[in-house]
Amino acid sequence: MAKILVNSSGPLHGEVEISGAKNAVLPLLAATLMTDKTCVIEGVPDLADVTVMKKMLTNYGAVIDDSVKGELRVTVGEITSCEGDAELVQEMRASIFTMGPMLARAGKVIMPMPGGCTIGKRPIDLHLKGFRALGAKVVEDSVNDIVTVTAPPEGLKGDAIYLDFPSVGATENILMAATLAKGTTIIENAAKEPEIIDLANLLNKMGARIKYAGTDMIRIEGVECLSGCIHAVIPDRIETGTFMLAAAITRGDILIKNALPGHVRPIIAKLKECNVGVELTDEGIYIDARDRELIATDIKTLPYPGFPTDIQSPFMAFLTTVKGQSAVIETVFENRFMHVVELNRMGADISTENRKAIVPGNKQLHGAKVRATDLRAGAAMVLAGLVATGTTEISEIYHIERGYENFVGKFKGLGADIMKIDND
Ligand code: EPZ
Repeated sequence: MAKILVNSSGPLHGEVEISGAKNAVLPLLAATLMTDKTCVIEGVPDLADVTVMKKMLTNYGAVIDDSVKGELRVTVGEITSCEGDAELVQEMRASIFTMGPMLARAGKVIMPMPGGCTIGKRPIDLHLKGFRALGAKVVEDSVNDIVTVTAPPEGLKGDAIYLDFPSVGATENILMAATLAKGTTIIENAAKEPEIIDLANLLNKMGARIKYAGTDMIRIEGVECLSGCIHAVIPDRIETGTFMLAAAITRGDILIKNALPGHVRPIIAKLKECNVGVELTDEGIYIDARDRELIATDIKTLPYPGFPTDIQSPFMAFLTTVKGQSAVIETVFENRFMHVVELNRMGADISTENRKAIVPGNKQLHGAKVRATDLRAGAAMVLAGLVATGTTEISEIYHIERGYENFVGKFKGLGADIMKIDND
């Protein structure tokens, strides 16, 4: 089983380039199913999840040219299958983002249900509510854990859809399905994440007529068909936050290039509350935590533009090292404190009650054998290992490789004493 070893590394210093956003590129790739013309996606990060999405698309009939690094040329001349691959869906939950495009393009999709994961049961009821509102027939086979969604013979028809929770995935799936529906669709209480705007920009380049993406009410005028396009993926705001915290936790200074400050405002605000220096320069976001007394703050995760749930665990690792007690409240997922046990193995002494964690702070962490319990928790353990005494050994690092491009290499470039050891 591959592992990452991290030794106490002292202040990190230097520059890091942010890659394309995992949570943008996955729906963008799914959207290429909606045309028989070629779509060129640029700035594609080299991630395990992108590999899985490429396999999903190929299974549906896509031809993908990946001969140019960081660029995918996708052509889905015809749909050769309407069935999602069960193994791929289990490997990557975001495979379900192909449901909306398949329903729009082929009028049918048969999708194995994605299991829950360590952070929650993660139902897809809101996705299915949206498909039904557009006139689709949804058959849930709970015995075989498969859902079949079929458009009516006359095609999907626009409607008003209210999301009980501003689900990112449901907003994206419904947005894509509605793009080729007849008439107007309004998504109310829509998710407002930057990845939604990036998807709407791609679809509008393809000929869609989408307005107000990024607000809580998105309006889609259905069109007959879509053309190809060329589109560059937005930078990854969660990777950006992760490296901002790498500077903060090690009391170093890092220039984060190719980052969009407007996508990380809550993280900037909270780091400033902890007395971390944040400067927006023409080169990028400069984080300076040298020679400062860093202090506690409280965080509460919320849908965008609130504090992002994906930065909760890396930020918690940082809060174990500052002066004073912090409270961390997780409101988006019901079980996203699995990393607390792992941080406590390192001496963090964090306590939890329901969705609230109390982080005492003022801790000198010590190295230990820990697990990456999810993608972002894995990043949190690397951050903790950078400032722990001795060596921290992180297992189950496939989680990390799903969503961070060249993670170990980027940290090495900043002076971290870190290495990946393959199957020992
Ligand atoms: C996306 O997941 C991201 N993944 C997640 O990032 C991110 O944490 C999450 O949005 C929230 O920002 C991708 O974009 C690939 P949701 P998604 O639907 O779409 C409940 C990472 O580490 N819900 O907004 O699955 C759900 O249970 C990953 O990069 C329903 O109840 O998130 C959860 O409690 C982790 N019914 C809440 O909404 C539904 O039909 C938020 O889920 C759908 C969701």
